[in-house]
Amino acid sequence: MTQQSEIVVVGAGSLGQTFSAALGSSGVPVVLVATGRSSARLLSEGKLSVRGMLQFSVPVAETAQPGAVRISRGEDLTSVRGIIFATKGHDLRSAAQALSGVKSTWVTGIQNGVAKDDLLAEIFGRGRVLGAAGNLAAERQDDGSVLVTNRGMTYVGELDGGSSERAERLASDLKSAGIPAQLSANIRSVEWSKAVIVAGGFGVGVLTRVVWSESMEDPNLTRAFLSLAREAAAIAKAEGVEIADFPGSEALTYVSQPDEKSIASRAERVRKLRAEGGELDRRSSIVQDLLSGRRLEADFIFDDFVTRARKHGVPSPRLELVRDLARGIDASKSRSTGGTTAP
Ligand SMILES: NC(=O)c1ccc[n+]([C@@H]2O[C@H](COP(=O)([O-])OP(=O)(O)OC[C@H]3O[C@@H](n4cnc5c(N)ncnc54)[C@H](OP(=O)(O)O)[C@@H]3O)[C@@H](O)[C@H]2O)c1
Repeated sequence: MTQQSEIVVVGAGSLGQTFSAALGSSGVPVVLVATGRSSARLLSEGKLSVRGMLQFSVPVAETAQPGAVRISRGEDLTSVRGIIFATKGHDLRSAAQALSGVKSTWVTGIQNGVAKDDLLAEIFGRGRVLGAAGNLAAERQDDGSVLVTNRGMTYVGELDGGSSERAERLASDLKSAGIPAQLSANIRSVEWSKAVIVAGGFGVGVLTRVVWSESMEDPNLTRAFLSLAREAAAIAKAEGVEIADFPGSEALTYVSQPDEKSIASRAERVRKLRAEGGELDRRSSIVQDLLSGRRLEADFIFDDFVTRARKHGVPSPRLELVRDLARGIDASKSRSTGGTTAP
């Protein structure tokens, strides 16, 4: 029997463990729905360990216990407060379908790209879906622990704009848990603005494997980033969404100002962070997947852009090239492992 006050986090990966550990350690009852192998690993370790720019160590248990995050396979869930889907995009449909019978006030997905809201709306109904996007960044370590490399800002909000008690409460709970968060009255703009940055950043990352600081400092890679970001921004415009700047994520400035200004400002940002002793070697989640031999989110992010572009008659040849190359990388990995690409 589940409680209506519980927040369910689905997926015990980098972000799923970070959200669960943060909310759990702040006193919110949390159920972490994990795959069999992740459940077994976490239960044998007895805790969630998050380090880096956010630090938590929270006990885990198979049954509800005060101060512990409950690990579940999801079958026992009946009625909960909300569900945060933290799987990769290509696992979102099956994870959401498995919980489609669970009553909840809201569901939300933290996947990159903009396909997640439509997919969740198809399964749960649009009225249940909260939008979410942000710059919280984390990486899974070999020992299973999670390293948070950027606390960023996480935005949540109603897809139709405005405010609501449920979105305000979620933002407030995240903030109390130590995750910078705020309600956005225009979450579609936030999601698309982040997607514009992702189009450029993931496109460059997946073809070069560079760490964040290298992609920011190299003028050629910044030019490549900008050309991809502009294609994504044109799709946002065709979808009727205005992109904007948010702290640490200047989508509008990047696509509007001359390339030379962005080349200078991106290099300056790295210089400043280096002087402050900040984390320069972080990798985007698609580069982490590439290096770990896991499946890429090529279709979920890039094919979605291309499909939307075609629908609106907007040219997107660079995004299409990234999609095709990323698909080819996946197929090649799959062939070389006899079809057993790490999930
Ligand atoms: N990491 C970041 O910094 C970051 C930042 C912004 C956005 N994002 C987005 O957030 C999403 C998650 O990224 P991530 O880096 O946290 O991914 P991740 O580390 O690969 O974690 C995904 C987790 O989902 C689990 N999973 C898959 N199917 C499941 C199911 N049906 N039920 C329960 N668990 C399931 C996987 O389990 P197994 O481990 O057992 O396979 C894995 O632990 C991605 O879409 C990514 O683009 C990530």
